[in-house]
Amino acid sequence: MKMEAFPPVEGNYNLQNYEEMYEKFQWDQAEEQFSWHTTGKVNLAYEAVDRHAEGSKKDKAALCYLSSTRNETYTFNDLKQMTNKAGNVLRTKAGVKKGDRVFIFMPRSPELYFALLGVIKIGAIVGPLFEAFMEDAVRDRLYDSSAKVLITTPELLERVPVQDLPALETIFLIGENIEEKDQYVDYQKHFQEASAQLDIEWVERTDGLILHYTSGSTGKPKGVLHVHNAMVQHYQSAKWVLDLQEDDIYWCTADPGWVTGTSYGIFGPWLTGTTNIVAGGRFSPEGWYKTIESFGVTVWYSAPTSFRMLMAAGEPALKSHNLTSLRHVLSVGEPLNPEVIRWGQESFKKRIHDTWWMTETGAQLICNYPCMELRLGSMGKPLPGVEAAILDDEGNILPPNQMGNLAIKKGWPSLMHTIWNNQEKYDSYFPFSDWYVSGDSAYMDEEGYFWFQGRVDDVIMTAGERVGPFEVESKLIEHPAVAEAGVIGKPDHIRGEIIKAFVALNDGYTESDQLKEEIRHFVKTGLAAHSAPREIEFCEKIPKTRSGKIMRRVLKAWELGLPTGDLSTLED
Ligand code: PRX
Repeated sequence: MKMEAFPPVEGNYNLQNYEEMYEKFQWDQAEEQFSWHTTGKVNLAYEAVDRHAEGSKKDKAALCYLSSTRNETYTFNDLKQMTNKAGNVLRTKAGVKKGDRVFIFMPRSPELYFALLGVIKIGAIVGPLFEAFMEDAVRDRLYDSSAKVLITTPELLERVPVQDLPALETIFLIGENIEEKDQYVDYQKHFQEASAQLDIEWVERTDGLILHYTSGSTGKPKGVLHVHNAMVQHYQSAKWVLDLQEDDIYWCTADPGWVTGTSYGIFGPWLTGTTNIVAGGRFSPEGWYKTIESFGVTVWYSAPTSFRMLMAAGEPALKSHNLTSLRHVLSVGEPLNPEVIRWGQESFKKRIHDTWWMTETGAQLICNYPCMELRLGSMGKPLPGVEAAILDDEGNILPPNQMGNLAIKKGWPSLMHTIWNNQEKYDSYFPFSDWYVSGDSAYMDEEGYFWFQGRVDDVIMTAGERVGPFEVESKLIEHPAVAEAGVIGKPDHIRGEIIKAFVALNDGYTESDQLKEEIRHFVKTGLAAHSAPREIEFCEKIPKTRSGKIMRRVLKAWELGLPTGDLSTLED
């Protein structure tokens, strides 16, 4: 297949020469950025907030929050005071100490960001939850981590099964007219009265910072624990990959319930002292374009699923907004279809830079950088300081162009510290001792670009040919009738597996056998005969996680009439 590529971009980027930096960079060079490098006192929240508030960025806008009812700006100095107050409320009203687990279950608002950093300032471990979680998802997470404190709203309280959570001592409620009784405390009342001076809890670099629960293909969600040391990589990747610079207005569209919304919605931007936009409410093409236009967003980090929705919304929304402030655009979470990159280039004249990483890895690992040629469909190359390889099932390094297990050599600063209460699960990521095995399959081309193929268990083997579902999905959505597609292998007694596609149509198209045939033909002629789905089923929506990943295992379960398993991360 012909490789399509966009040339490097000229400009004053933080990373100027990838190859040179890859040769010489060591992580301890990045540590010199932090005040603990000289003081020996460690706390991520100090580095992200107080360090700037005590320096030249005191009055620089740190957080700009916009929702349908609020439009507020907080400087780094404001942020210091607000996070101090939050820390004080937690300490004095709930006795929170170093290492305690404090969960936050509420919609995006300034209060969420203050509380999250407040928890970290007092050395406790913060657990952010998506506001859309229902009771079972909330129970699993709070129970597994023995959470001591929960910060939530009265509206969400009915989804908190307090009776099943013996370790939960205090529930802070953020809202109007809160009645304080039993373990329920009015957060805002105490926040207003709290002192804006706080004694920060200094910690070890390996002390707990944040717990993100993430679903695997089996069992309950697992608690991925990150530690303060991850800040080294949050900082350095925010510099090189997000390319954050002094005057940037940065917008990461992810919710803090997902690792992208903390590593790059909070830590990366603030460790680098960048102005950070937070938008409340739900996705709408109009609202999103308006956010970019009204704040003059320069660096924008989002996900393929959102880009595809914007793409589907078409020209009218796009053309009625001025997006010329954008200078750097990035994507994460699932494969970035070449079609989407082409659309970005056409619609706002920018390359969309793919970044690959996982909840477990804590920060970006394989990325595209402006100074490097962008090969459409590739995830890019490892960050300087990161060694990536493709391993076979025995742990041997495979030569270029062979598909295998995408693995990263241990030693990058933001690797998870453990899986909460589950050492065995943690160990399972390291079957060949010093390699972290991601569970993704990929290959590396001759020039060192990595190409995602699927989750290891998603790869389809049909009539002896290996087919990555992503490749087929990418092709399918290039057909004008197709809005979204999910592809699985369906057991077949002759071919081993056949390719089955679930397809959601764009408005204005009607389901018919003729259309199925046309779509099949489109893939067959555009990709390869063996990649064309033998079966196509139309459906209204493709099941996806909140972070936009197609849940192929759910499609597979539907297909085979099996139970769908843990659905707590399903989008709706
Ligand atoms: O399969 C890969 C996919 O998302 C998985 C990690 O998901 P999660 O822990 O939710 O974190 C996502 C954001 C950090 C990976 O194992 N994935 C993530 N980024 C990409 C990707 N697949 C292809 N291309 C990417 N850029």
